[in-house]
Amino acid sequence: MSKEYDVVIIGSGPGGYVCAIRCAQLGMKTAIIEKYKTLGGTCLNVGCIPSKAWLDSSEKYHELVHQFQDHGINANKVEIDFPKMSERVQKVVSDTCGGIDYLMKKNKIDVYRGHGSFVDAHTIKIKGDKEESIKGKNIVIATGSKPSSIPGLKIDKERVITSTEALKLPSLPKSMIVIGGGVIGLEMGSVFMRLGTKVSVVEYADSCIATMDKDMGKNLQKVLKKEGMEFYLGHGVTKVEGLKTKAKVTAKAKKDDKEVNLEADYVLVAVGRKPYTDGLGLENIGIELDERGRVPSDDHLRTKHSHIYAIGDVTKGAMLAHKAEEEGVFVAELMNGQKPHINYLLVPGVVYTWPEVASVGHTEQQLKDQKIAYKTGSFPFKASGRARASNESDGLIKVLADKETDEILGVHMVGPRCADLIAEAVLAMEFRASAEDVARTCHAHPTYTESFKEACLAATENRALHI
Ligand code: FAD
Ligand code: NAI
Repeated sequence: MSKEYDVVIIGSGPGGYVCAIRCAQLGMKTAIIEKYKTLGGTCLNVGCIPSKAWLDSSEKYHELVHQFQDHGINANKVEIDFPKMSERVQKVVSDTCGGIDYLMKKNKIDVYRGHGSFVDAHTIKIKGDKEESIKGKNIVIATGSKPSSIPGLKIDKERVITSTEALKLPSLPKSMIVIGGGVIGLEMGSVFMRLGTKVSVVEYADSCIATMDKDMGKNLQKVLKKEGMEFYLGHGVTKVEGLKTKAKVTAKAKKDDKEVNLEADYVLVAVGRKPYTDGLGLENIGIELDERGRVPSDDHLRTKHSHIYAIGDVTKGAMLAHKAEEEGVFVAELMNGQKPHINYLLVPGVVYTWPEVASVGHTEQQLKDQKIAYKTGSFPFKASGRARASNESDGLIKVLADKETDEILGVHMVGPRCADLIAEAVLAMEFRASAEDVARTCHAHPTYTESFKEACLAATENRALHI
């Protein structure tokens, strides 16, 4: 007889494991299935956590070599111990994944190791060391995503690689071509550039991080260019060749068809990710994928079967860990009879380069397209005492507010610690604050947060105090 659960979750990424915890907190008998050796999904194993660990190590080195002198600190003979750096990253990953094992045990969640697939709408077969089946009154598909590629491009995982391989390179490359100037391209590109690799970014769009507010991409690109990153914006890749010790890329400029030929130790392909549903047996329960390979779900994240849900990267919406987590909690509470809500407009986006980029709400372009009358207020970090004290004057905060009501409609920032600063903007918008509400809130001096207050003052009645 198959063991029966109130809920069976397939996939243990931030969507799946958070969903499991919330289900268990609400008293449901819960099982989670994971095909990899460790829990935590893309985010913990080959995504958010290792990439941030690399970003942190490389940032420390870069600061030591390039910025400490300005503070009157001379460091001689600074060396990179690449294997040690890599080892630290792997330790961070294994410790963090181990933490999820602990959380599963603590919440009495049964963990099944193996590949899960639908036999019917209530039964999941698990192929691991042994084969077994379990049943769920409710089932949550949280199988995440995998790197995607360009038609005709072969990712050999040796010279032509994805972020997964880039996180575990055996030695520091001399040169790297990054295809795609989006989030992964610029974060991983920054890691290697800071450590001394020559990094060239080939991006089809005319700006980097093209889906974010245009001013952010422009500002970030200026800083990265100054630090030595090379950009081929508005270039379409026509050929990629992985050789024994090198890789080559040919790209054409959109505006005049001029060809560029690049060669490097590695080509990192970072052109987006695609939902992962291989071998899930969706055909056995009559679920067809949408045009982008996603599991279709409604506003309550239900598939065509009302007891089967899809959350995180495998379904519609931004491919972000915190979006997956929110959805995990959402479906758990929904199954429990509650009426949860997710405000997707307020899911923040962050790029962990330095300066960091962060954004929430509408961009100017979206407000224009929707014909919403708005006003803007900006504050440059160079006018912040705190930023000057820390030699971190690049960037700005831009606030978009409703022209009539002053309600904050969008906040976009590029600069120091923006990944953390954006939380205040999210909270303000969650409570539908006006720009003046934030402007009248006392912010400690000297902090980076004052820059948000100043941008709000600028948006309220153009009355920033320090510009
Ligand atoms: P995943 O994390 O992909 O987890 C899905 C899990 O399901 C996997 O463990 C997989 O093995 C398992 N699985 C799949 N099919 C089956 C099956 N049939 N049976 C059993 N198990 C199965 N997002 C951020 O918000 N912030 C960041 O800083 C960030 N950095 C990133 C950096 C990189 C390099 C990458 C690649 C991604 C990054 N992301 C980041 C995106 C983030 O990792 C994803 O949005 C997030 O992991 C999605 O969570 P998920 O639970 O939907 O799926
Ligand atoms: P992305 O969508 O951010 O960027 C891909 C870029 O590749 C785009 O700018 C696109 O114009 C470009 N591109 C596509 N085809 C191209 C071609 N043929 N030639 C040149 N350029 C081309 O995707 P990315 O960076 O791969 O990241 C995947 C997902 O992972 C993102 O959706 C993101 O949400 C998530 N992620 C989030 C992070 C964060 O929150 N900090 C960090 C890393 C990943």
